Amino acid sequence: MTSDPRMTVPKFLRLKQQRKKIAMVTAYDFPHAKLADAAGVDGILVGDSLAMVVQGHENTLAARLDQIIYHAEMVARAAKQALVVADLPFPINQCEPSRVIDEAGRVLKETRCQAVKLEGGAKQAPLIEALVTAGIPVMAHVGLRPQTVHMMGGYRVQRDEDQLLTDARAAQDHGAFSIVIECVPTEVATSISRQLMIPTIGIGAGPGCDGQVLVLHDLIGMTSGYTPSFVKQFADVGNAIQQAIRDYCEEVREGAFPADEHGFS
Ligand code: KIV
Repeated sequence: MTSDPRMTVPKFLRLKQQRKKIAMVTAYDFPHAKLADAAGVDGILVGDSLAMVVQGHENTLAARLDQIIYHAEMVARAAKQALVVADLPFPINQCEPSRVIDEAGRVLKETRCQAVKLEGGAKQAPLIEALVTAGIPVMAHVGLRPQTVHMMGGYRVQRDEDQLLTDARAAQDHGAFSIVIECVPTEVATSISRQLMIPTIGIGAGPGCDGQVLVLHDLIGMTSGYTPSFVKQFADVGNAIQQAIRDYCEEVREGAFPADEHGFS
């Protein structure tokens, strides 16, 4: 038997036992997912952040399930090694379990993603259990939950340690295989990570988590406007693209492009 290089949910879980840090990014289309996969990420999240990053909305609420499916299908087709997780968009985490199983089931059937992500902790625990019982692996998401932006009145660091631990424990105990912890003080996220058996994936939660996730467009410098302070920009692809297009426009206008070698005889 040949060993399959593809990350699976059980392999992802084992990374924590093996004390290997987990690297995840978001992606929303084939070319970016292919690059991320080839670069060796452990997981790719087709986040509902696509509403902001790809569609230009001011928050994530506009993302629809059919759009997540459309993007997740491209990403899963590109990923040969990484675990691909698709976000369940607002307000699916508030729906009846039978409906959520139908929606999440569609994601797995139509995209070849291996898991879904669901914003929620203790309140969503019965939902997590229903999904897992139906054979749908769930990554939970505690701390700052962008789908509740209007309840919070903006994006805020989440500091209630007891609530955060209760949410994380409930998600784990009801079957989540991993948990995103977003915008939580480093000390709190580190303590939660140490108390859980399943991997925690931090974003704005410091180095004590078992892994990290960043929005790919933030880390490569392709977002314009506000960038959260927890983001590190590893490249300036946005400016490189703009410069390339400027050079192209200039050459077209000057008649330098196309040259002889770009034509047919
Ligand atoms: O939608 C998203 O991209 C996310 C990550 C930032 C965790 O939820």
